[in-house]
Amino acid sequence: MSLLQNKKILLGISGGIAAYKCAELTRRLVEQGAQVRVVMTPAAKAFITPLTMQAVSGHPVSDDLLDPAAEAAMGHIELAKWADLILITPASADLIARLAQGMANDLLTTLCLASAAPTVVSPAMNQQMWAAPATQRNIEQLKKDGRFIIGPGVGEQACGDVGAGRMLEPNQIIEHLPAFFLPQVLQGKKLLITAGPTQEAIDPVRYISNHSSGKMGYALASAAMQLGALVTLVSGPTALEKPVNCELIAVKSAKQMLEACQQVAHQSDIFIACAAVADYQVADVAEQKIKKTQHQLNLQLTKNPDILASIAQQLEKPFCIGFAAETQDVAHYAKDKMQRKNLDMIIANDVSNQQIGFNSDQNAVTVYWQDQEQSFPATDKKELAVKLLQLIAKHYTQQV
Ligand code: C5P
Repeated sequence: MSLLQNKKILLGISGGIAAYKCAELTRRLVEQGAQVRVVMTPAAKAFITPLTMQAVSGHPVSDDLLDPAAEAAMGHIELAKWADLILITPASADLIARLAQGMANDLLTTLCLASAAPTVVSPAMNQQMWAAPATQRNIEQLKKDGRFIIGPGVGEQACGDVGAGRMLEPNQIIEHLPAFFLPQVLQGKKLLITAGPTQEAIDPVRYISNHSSGKMGYALASAAMQLGALVTLVSGPTALEKPVNCELIAVKSAKQMLEACQQVAHQSDIFIACAAVADYQVADVAEQKIKKTQHQLNLQLTKNPDILASIAQQLEKPFCIGFAAETQDVAHYAKDKMQRKNLDMIIANDVSNQQIGFNSDQNAVTVYWQDQEQSFPATDKKELAVKLLQLIAKHYTQQV
């Protein structure tokens, strides 16, 4: 079940070219089981039609504070009470200014004043307008008032400028939302997570690696952020998008991954090693591309450092969690690994089952700690990540 299932989201759209992204955003929210009601400012209707938003949300759009017919259906106070969350995007400089002043001169600003639901404001405007002192002052005021600001993104803008002010992409906005519905069990905790494969160079153009997609580690990073943590993700090469709000350190080899982890581990509360670190590296990496002149090529390999074990063996170590991908005797090998590497918990999965694990969107695992265990049936990696982190948070808290 999606984390947004049955959540009532009031989507407020103000006037900006990025308003077109709201159709896609609404579709994705509805796909995840959220109930979406759309409110548009008069200027928003110049950029995307209410008919489009009605079609994608499945409900008529509200746009008028003084419309007797609309008030006879779901009136503005009812609508304000209905919402579990108000999401405003694109939030224009004008709307932000009016919100910061507590104005109620249209339906959307009135709803914001009349609702006790968390309000998430995702700005989008020209970079100069975003940088303007007045806008920044208004944003600070909104933060002081307890509104949540996400974005804006940085990059090329519709007007041709480049800088901060782009509307976040719909999937980036959606990634922020579960945080408003989940107890913040990792509030302020610093998490270090490794993810993906490592690549061990053979020569300047070739390497040894494995099939790890990085999906589980990235899902953990994203879920940790949704539970309130500050996340550093040390990742080998993957095709995945950086999870929002985490610090990403991109590495290639196990040696680089170890160095990055060693720098961050001492200031981390929890370390989760999810990376599929290559077991071996090439002993002598060729400086030039190896020519295929020989019939046989022998590569000498040496064992890679064990990143998790090296951090778990430090005197002042973070709470350490490892993964164990096994094809047989899962419980036995996992518990043995937990002891050998001095871990607090281990998450084991049976990789002989091709429906789950490597590259799949689903995973089923059993977690072991001390003399206890808990199994999680096959679930989407994103949902599983939240459940795993809730369990980790519970045992981390008991330990400290
Ligand atoms: O490969 P192995 O089964 O030993 O991996 C178990 C755990 O140790 C995983 O959490 C993995 O991320 C971590 N590991 C590591 N450095 C290695 C090998 C494994 O951090 N060189």
